[in-house]
This record gives sequence, C-alpha cells and structure tokens, in this order.
Amino acid sequence: MSTPRRVENLHTDKGKVPVYATGIVEQPWDDYDAADHTTWGTLYRRQRALLAGRACDEFLQAQDVMGMSPQAIPRYRELNAVLGQATGWQLVGVEGLLPELDFFQHLAARRFPVTWWIRRPEQIDYIAEPDLFHDLFGHVPLLMDPMFADYMQAYGRGGVKAHGLGAEALQNLARLYWYTVEFGLVRQRGELRIYGAGIVSSGGESVHALESAAPNHVGFDLERIMRTGYRIDSYQETYFVIDSFEQLIQATRPDFAPIYARLAGLPAIAPGLVLADDRVFQRGTGNGDDA
Ligand code: PHE
Ligand code: FE
Repeated sequence: MSTPRRVENLHTDKGKVPVYATGIVEQPWDDYDAADHTTWGTLYRRQRALLAGRACDEFLQAQDVMGMSPQAIPRYRELNAVLGQATGWQLVGVEGLLPELDFFQHLAARRFPVTWWIRRPEQIDYIAEPDLFHDLFGHVPLLMDPMFADYMQAYGRGGVKAHGLGAEALQNLARLYWYTVEFGLVRQRGELRIYGAGIVSSGGESVHALESAAPNHVGFDLERIMRTGYRIDSYQETYFVIDSFEQLIQATRPDFAPIYARLAGLPAIAPGLVLADDRVFQRGTGNGDDA
C-alpha cells in the first residue's frame, strides 16, 4: 500500500469517487457482523494451510504469538499490547490507502495503518484495494520481528526524505516497497520462502510465487529493484530474493539521495525482464545459479 492510487471508496454512497481519508479511526469492532468474522476465518484458515512450508518462519510464528486465530477478527487493541511489548510498533485504524506523506510519517513513528473494513463475501478471492485481511494478516505479523520492524521505520523515514526530492525519487522508493514489503521472498534453510504481504494474503499468488514456472526469482539488488516497473493487476513476473532481513537492512542503510540522482532519467526495466548480471534462482530451490 505504498503507492497512493485513486481508489473508489466503497463505503460511501457518493458513487465511484476517488477518496483519500487521512484520519485515524477507532476499529469499530462491535460493528463487524457474522459474515465479516466468517470471511476472516475462511481466509485465515485457507492461507495458514497454504503458508505452512511456504511463508518464512518469522511470519508464521508471529501470528501465533500475537494470538491471531480464525475464530474472529482480531481486536487492534489486543494485538497492540503484544506488538508494543515486542517492538514498540502500534496499529492504527484507517479507512484505506493514505496519501504518501501521511503513510511515511506513520511508519517513521512506528505506527502501521490498518484498514478497518473487511472485503465482502463475494470478494473473498480478489479485491483490488487493500482491506483488513491484507493489512492485518499480511503486514502486521512481521512487525513483531525486531529487524523487519526497524526496516519498516527506516523506510518511513526514507519516504519522508524522498517526498522532498520529487516524483522520480518516490517512484524508485515505491518499487523497493513493492518488491520487498509487498512481494519479497527470503531464502531459509536453502529454500525460497515468502515474506511479502501481497503474497501471503493471496491464495493464488502464494502458490504462483514459489511453484509456477512463469516468474523469475532474482537475487536482491537495490538499484536493480529501484529501476524495475511492476504489475498491479496480475501476479508478479519477477520476485526478488533476500538472504535475510539483516541483508535487507544493510543494503538499504546508505543514503539514497545520490542513488536517486544517479538513476534519474534512466528508463525503467520491464517487470518480466531478466538481465545478464541478475543472480537467477532455480525454481523450487534456494540456490542461486551463479554458474
Ligand atoms: N537509507 C534510505 C535513505 O537514505 C532510507 C531507507 C531505509 C529507505 C530503508 C528504505 C528502506 O533514503
Ligand atoms: Fe500492502
């Protein structure tokens, strides 16, 4: 959800009006009805079954430690008690996608905006906008991990800075979010595992990202990612693989301002393209093909 897009606010009767609601709202937990809790439970069970052996260890463990379960939509207040203890992060309820600067400022303050509403039953397999299931099930667990928690805050600070540098810098940074926070893969015990929220919250993409012969799996490379366009309307054509969250933190520690300047004006790399010096991973293994 890094890239503010025009969204159709589905919760007003104003019709299809693009809206950014910027305020923080209390999670209206008592207003969820049985269908909402069932939607959560159905998606939760389905994804947990798929993600065993596919998601990274940190993700699956954190959901258990936080007490997420298929029984009911979690209460943000209860999750915040656990999360605050672990890493100092807090969830804040929002209506949906935020303008970029607001989003960055929340992250920089270790606040993660979570959409309060959940998709309707007929949208169970696909919804274009991030809803509670994507934000909460997908993004929140890794905030329990100290390193990933620091990465997200650093990203927020970097976003505030990039916002002052112009549209191209922001685009470079948004691609980094896309290919890590949303669609990242990590190597664990020699196998590719998922950590990106956009993958773990999608049944189809959880399988596609790891088992389909179609997508490329390329070793993480900061500037390569900053130059790579992405698809928002289909499964990804390329996934970038980190060795560890430690690697992600180290690689993103340098000041990006000179990098943005160097990349300015360069053409984007198409999402499906493999470059000669990409480190390409063999499908189904965590072994980069270095030969
Ligand atoms: N080092 C980056 C900068 O100077 C900040 C950043 C850290 C951005 C981590 C993204 C992720 O802009
Ligand atoms: Fe997201």
